[in-house]
Amino acid sequence: MVFHNSWEDTKRAEAYAKLEFPGTYYLAYRDLQKIIFEHVQGRKAIDFGCGTGRSTRFLKRIGFNTTGVDISKEMINKAKEIDPEGDYRIIGECDSNEFSCSAYDLVLSVFTFDNIPGVERRIKILKGLRDLLKREGRLIMLDATPEIYVNEWASFSTKDFPENRNAKSGEKVKIITTAIEDARPIEDIIWTDEDYKVTFKKSNFDQIKTYKPLAKENEPYKWINETSKAPWIIYVLGKKWGQAKSQEEIKIFKIILDILFLFS
Ligand SMILES: C[S@@+](CC[C@H](N)C(=O)[O-])C[C@H]1O[C@@H](n2cnc3c(N)ncnc32)[C@H](O)[C@@H]1O
Repeated sequence: MVFHNSWEDTKRAEAYAKLEFPGTYYLAYRDLQKIIFEHVQGRKAIDFGCGTGRSTRFLKRIGFNTTGVDISKEMINKAKEIDPEGDYRIIGECDSNEFSCSAYDLVLSVFTFDNIPGVERRIKILKGLRDLLKREGRLIMLDATPEIYVNEWASFSTKDFPENRNAKSGEKVKIITTAIEDARPIEDIIWTDEDYKVTFKKSNFDQIKTYKPLAKENEPYKWINETSKAPWIIYVLGKKWGQAKSQEEIKIFKIILDILFLFS
């Protein structure tokens, strides 16, 4: 399957850079601060798939020392333009090697995995992100539910893509973000909750908690399906222990073994 990251595009980056938190996006971010403070202890974070920096600026506002990383130079350029003091970096595919192992309290990933095809690629990336986390660190991942691709929403439309209904987990789907000026469809990868669970297990993550926020009638938006169907799913993940260890842990383990050997 050929998949093109829709965000490696100057026009789309321009349009996305103007986006704040309207409608369905409000619902994505509404509970994030509370969830983060409930699960994360320290304040050092990586924002994986930071795009034009909206999620990075959000983390900075709530007190996190944050580095935003993205594969799209078009998106990172806009992030730097909006927040010149911020730390934004372009990374390669599956590439988190330039960052210190076991150094981060939080890796946040908002809407990023909607753009990552293939189970093996996802596992490779997830393992890399796992290595960045401290022992008690958390990966908090927010992505689209399969429902988003077959319904209408305050900030998204899928009515022109009836073929989405036949898409299986891992396949391409199309969606239009009505909240930005660029009305070209975006290509995403649909992924079921069952498949997320399998992927987390294979990446040595424990699933700590899952949230599917619903909108409330008294919120100041013209909700379409958001009060009864959840467009987003939020996973809180922690490092699984007793199984695969990070490179740094393996190094420490080997040093301990060497010392024990010397004194035996
Ligand atoms: C929809 S944007 C979300 C931006 C931001 N997190 C937000 O909430 O506004 C998704 C981003 O994920 C990025 N992305 C896709 N695959 C990636 C990968 N393998 N590594 C890093 N970033 C990736 C895309 O380039 C895009 O900028």
